[in-house]
Amino acid sequence: MERIVKKIRQEAKEKIERIKNKEELEKVRIEFLGRKRGKITELLKNITTLPLQERPFAGRLANEIKREIQQLLDKKRKEISSEEEVEERVDVTFPGRKPRIGKLHPLTQTTEKIKRIFVSMGFRVVRGPEIETEYYNFEALNMPRYHPARNEYDSFYLNKGYLLRSHTSPVQIRVMEKESPPIRIIVPGRVYRRDAIDASHFPMFHQVEGLAVDEKVTFSDLKGVLSSFAYQMFGKTTRLRFRPSFFPFTEPSLDLDIQCVICQGKGCKTCGRKGWLEILGAGMVDPEVFKKVGYEPEKYQGFAFGMGVERICMLKYGVDDIRLFFQNDLRFLNQF
Ligand code: DAH
Repeated sequence: MERIVKKIRQEAKEKIERIKNKEELEKVRIEFLGRKRGKITELLKNITTLPLQERPFAGRLANEIKREIQQLLDKKRKEISSEEEVEERVDVTFPGRKPRIGKLHPLTQTTEKIKRIFVSMGFRVVRGPEIETEYYNFEALNMPRYHPARNEYDSFYLNKGYLLRSHTSPVQIRVMEKESPPIRIIVPGRVYRRDAIDASHFPMFHQVEGLAVDEKVTFSDLKGVLSSFAYQMFGKTTRLRFRPSFFPFTEPSLDLDIQCVICQGKGCKTCGRKGWLEILGAGMVDPEVFKKVGYEPEKYQGFAFGMGVERICMLKYGVDDIRLFFQNDLRFLNQF
């Protein structure tokens, strides 16, 4: 009897020592103290088969070892659960992970800025379709079929006289057809041209169009509005130059230049040694355009302008390659 008890005791000690988790602990507990098959439980049951005088001693021995195993198991249980607690504990003083703050794309930021400037001067923002008809994209803007100016807008044609608009000017026509003067609108949006991709060309880009029509709109109004825009966009000290130009839908027409932001007018690679950079085209609405939308040319005058958002953004921030806007490289985008 004593020998068996000692053997079980030794075995239990070793097994308890090796326990690593709650599951193992429960297995060992059942092996020794389990109600049905536990080794100690069996031992206690067997006492009744011993001769009467041996029973008290055997009983005491068996109960002693039962208690001992119980204590060892309890101790082990505490060790395990305190280890697990350490693993789960949260350090509330540990600095958290900062969420990354997103930003608007530089072209969106530039468009927003352009919009804000013109809205403050009483213009309203409207939009038009990117799929246009040849009529709105060309004819109504005084560019009949085979007009040489069409070559400048090498377009993506779709079926049945539709095309991807090559400028935002057709929206002028759509608005004038629906509304009567006074009109003061700007039109931001995407435009498409069949240009080979290089540092300054991309087959899709963005424009903001402008149109003001009323009974006493003058060339001075045009110069005033555009000057105010250029100063707000590029700074009060920017020098401006209005230069004669040509567009089929305006007469007279002009291009607006700002002094080169890179060389301050001395002449460099960016401005082609001219010292000036073109930022937009504009002019007084051609009477032919008014006739197309049913406005009386004798009664109304207007001015219109159009600018490329990529170009404005590139000049403002010194970006030298239009492709950067469409590669979505965070190293570029994060700088704005
Ligand atoms: N639509 C012209 C272009 O894409 C830009 C333009 C020039 C718009 C003069 C105008 C304007 O409204 O008056 O090149």
